[in-house]
Amino acid sequence: MLKRISVQGFKSIEQQTIELGALNVVIGANGSGKSNLIGVFRLLERVLSRNLQLYVASDPDRVLFHGRKKTPALSLDFVFDDDLYGFKLKAAQDTLVFQIELMGGAGGSCKQIGLGHGESHLQGIAEGQLRQIGTISTEILDSPDFPGDYPFRNPDETRKFAQQLFSQAARLMVYHFHDTSDTSPAKQTADVDDNRFFRSDAANLPAYLYWLQEKHPVEFRRIEEAIRLVAPFFECFVLAPSKLNEKKIKLEWRQKGSDAYFDAWSLSDGTLRFICLATLLLQPNPPALILLDEPELGLHPLAIRLLAEMLDAASGQTQLLVATQSVTLLDNFPIEQIIVADHDGRGSQFRRLRPEDYAMWLENFSVGELWEKNVLGGRP
Ligand SMILES: Nc1ncnc2c1ncn2[C@@H]1O[C@H](COP(=O)(O)OP(=O)(O)O)[C@@H](O)[C@H]1O
Ligand SMILES: [Mg+2]
Repeated sequence: MLKRISVQGFKSIEQQTIELGALNVVIGANGSGKSNLIGVFRLLERVLSRNLQLYVASDPDRVLFHGRKKTPALSLDFVFDDDLYGFKLKAAQDTLVFQIELMGGAGGSCKQIGLGHGESHLQGIAEGQLRQIGTISTEILDSPDFPGDYPFRNPDETRKFAQQLFSQAARLMVYHFHDTSDTSPAKQTADVDDNRFFRSDAANLPAYLYWLQEKHPVEFRRIEEAIRLVAPFFECFVLAPSKLNEKKIKLEWRQKGSDAYFDAWSLSDGTLRFICLATLLLQPNPPALILLDEPELGLHPLAIRLLAEMLDAASGQTQLLVATQSVTLLDNFPIEQIIVADHDGRGSQFRRLRPEDYAMWLENFSVGELWEKNVLGGRP
């Protein structure tokens, strides 16, 4: 589990360390930095998939706290149980390069796994491909004199450690189901075999649901039941490969009391988003860390309550970080799961709430009411 992150110099975050639990609900006014916090994980995703250069897109100032004049480098540290992965990226011409990339123990004994490089070395080391790392070779890395002697006594141990760290860190997904336009990825025809994982923009929704229907019928039924609660007219999905092209599948469903087939274009925006959320949260093997930005968008209060239940249930087997503006959603979570984001004019601050500070208030008010009354902060 990801226990802690430290962020320095990223977008509106000058310097923050945030402790994380199984379920983390971030609230705050517009512009307080909620999406920027989720952006930290988008950057981690890009770094680990060796797409940093694509991510920066020739504009490093955009991601550095008030630009490179004020902030020449940003650093991120991620502590998974007792292991740490971290890096510092500095502006160099029109891009960011690694000033340093580290792995090691959370206690501080770390090993530098590169410097001056443009894409992460972690996967390369994990796969045993990298012998020469930046300007240092793995022989130096593996020497007992190299600063940081965590469990790296020989190349084999270094590789194993990198493997374990990479497989932890790479199991995160930032999900985004906001697009319900006609060109929305969730509405498109998918490849039947595209079912290894549920894609971050739901582009393989029909293929993934089809796989669940065939291989995990219990979870599939649960998803259909949840959708029926929110959209009573929905009877069931009708999922099968296209008769004309067996490699393709599209989302179809049946309405109660009708034998006509409908497609994804006939779903309301909120229903389509809820279908994506239910698929993500009720599936049998979700990613280890799920990030969601304002998942309540376009959902009615009953659907939001159901969403809260699904988030809570999912947090039993996976870790979640959810940014929200919804008082209804917030009302479903205990105060210790809440992180308040505030922008103090300089930068974003993230604060975990302590239940003992609000015990008196909570006798008379719900958490959402306290937020509305500005007792918790996180309001304009
Ligand atoms: N590179 C940057 N340096 C400083 N502040 C930034 C930078 N990029 C974005 N911001 C600030 O972040 C704010 C947006 O934060 P965001 O996380 O999108 O807010 P929200 O809480 O509404 O999701 C903007 O108002 C802007 O002031
Ligand atoms: Mg936002």
